[in-house]
Amino acid sequence: PGSQPLRVACIGAGYVGGPTMAVIAAKTPPEAVQVRVLDLSAERIAAWNSERLPIYEPGLSELVFAARGRNLHFSTAIDDGIKWADIIFVAVNTPTKECGIGAGAAADLTYVELAARQIAAAADTPKIVVEKSTVPIRTAEALSAILEACGRTSFEILSNPEFLAEGTAVRDLCEPDRVLIGGDLKTERGRQALEALVELYAYWVPRERILTTNVWSSELSKLVANAFLAQRVSSINSISALCELSGAQIDEVARAVGLDRRIGPRFLQCSVGFGGSCFQKDILNLVYLCESFGLNVVADYWRSVIAINDWQKQRFTARILHSLYNTATNKKIAILGFAFKKDTADTRESAAIDVCGSLLQECAKLSIYDPQVPAEQIWSDLTRRCRRTRDELAAYVTLAATADEAAAGSHAIVILTEWDEFRTLDYSKMYKSMCRPAFLFDGRSVCDLKALSEIGFLCYAIGSPD
Ligand code: NAD
Ligand code: UGA
Repeated sequence: PGSQPLRVACIGAGYVGGPTMAVIAAKTPPEAVQVRVLDLSAERIAAWNSERLPIYEPGLSELVFAARGRNLHFSTAIDDGIKWADIIFVAVNTPTKECGIGAGAAADLTYVELAARQIAAAADTPKIVVEKSTVPIRTAEALSAILEACGRTSFEILSNPEFLAEGTAVRDLCEPDRVLIGGDLKTERGRQALEALVELYAYWVPRERILTTNVWSSELSKLVANAFLAQRVSSINSISALCELSGAQIDEVARAVGLDRRIGPRFLQCSVGFGGSCFQKDILNLVYLCESFGLNVVADYWRSVIAINDWQKQRFTARILHSLYNTATNKKIAILGFAFKKDTADTRESAAIDVCGSLLQECAKLSIYDPQVPAEQIWSDLTRRCRRTRDELAAYVTLAATADEAAAGSHAIVILTEWDEFRTLDYSKMYKSMCRPAFLFDGRSVCDLKALSEIGFLCYAIGSPD
């Protein structure tokens, strides 16, 4: 109000909360907007306040270093932050439930509810609460009920799902295709809250790209957007199998299909399978929602997107094994890439975890190289996937500091993430250091198969006929 800056807080300093708040701070003058990012994890907050941020995202550190201390602050003082703020974003994690009703499908809303209860307990002046986490439809209603029942003041709830993709988070936040804000359009207070958030985004997003809807449309649109994106990947991956058998070439098919403007060229890159923290989780969420409304045919339709993805990962691993004369036992295999996509250190649901897990079941010896994923993360993903201790796995897994080191003495190179540097490796040099025959399995279409075959590699790429 008046000359006071707008006070924006965000509960959850993760992949969404951190970058989103950094961009809000960077795009607004400090006398107009102040931002506090809050998290339970003291370690995460300390990292945000350090020179080495907790997440790797191109362009992010420049933004954070410029705004930190000016109008961007990271803190564990959650109650203070809640009291202080006018607008509170909730950007906590919403993983798939692991037990109980809806286990393996429904969203676990524990963290969202805890955040709501914390807001209710600490707030003593009216707040706008913004649901930023991806949640099932009608979660805002539950939030509202908790806040009304436990709080001492009034709350307006908005839904403002996030569409950023990892690896391009800063660009996506700075130039979003759209910003979606769902609110209660029927009441004056609801409309005012909505307008306050529209004005915040309008500092850098053209008004025509800021979409306002009712809360339920907004919540559902987020799940649907992710389901459609994942469905495109599964569609092209399903056709990649057909290409391998029929003599068609997947890149040529994708290009020919994608040039139709009604279809469009993006998200038609075949791969070893989509990963990331959200596609599978959000589709499962949609499936659960459909089933709970009795829409079983619709649920089955979306479930098949995940089924194709699982099949694609299995198919790729089976192909490796088949090429290696049906035994990988004690063969060294170089794994290039562990992140779920390039330009991120995130490994959540990465196809690499499943492919490596299956190869370890075959007693292969893996030498893994990824330019960004920390060693600890790889160990933790593999011990969880294989249900073996790190000591048990250490006989079969080594982490390499370079791609060359991973390849030396190996029977095969397996590319699982499309890091740019894998396009320009010295494959002739790697070939010389490998066992014969030397295989290369390209799960990401990064290699020039003709050039590699000329070097002597026996190659397999998803979607390319033999
Ligand atoms: P994350 O796990 O990286 O971060 C969540 C953070 O919230 C963690 O640091 C955790 O410590 C903190 N937290 C949990 N409960 C808390 C509480 N009560 N008080 C304070 N801090 C708390 O998760 P994320 O990837 O940023 O995802 C957050 C939400 O955004 C999810 O719902 C996800 O589906 C959605 N989303 C994610 C992406 C993405 O690219 N990762 C993109 C769009 C939407
Ligand atoms: C995705 C969406 O793109 C975001 O809009 C959304 O906000 C986010 O999920 C979320 O809700 O978490 P993200 O998972 O970060 O973003 O990354 P994507 O670029 O969508 O890639 C997801 C997976 O699909 C990756 O494993 C990627 O390699 C794979 N992919 C993507 C393909 O295999 N082929 C493609 O053509 C595109």
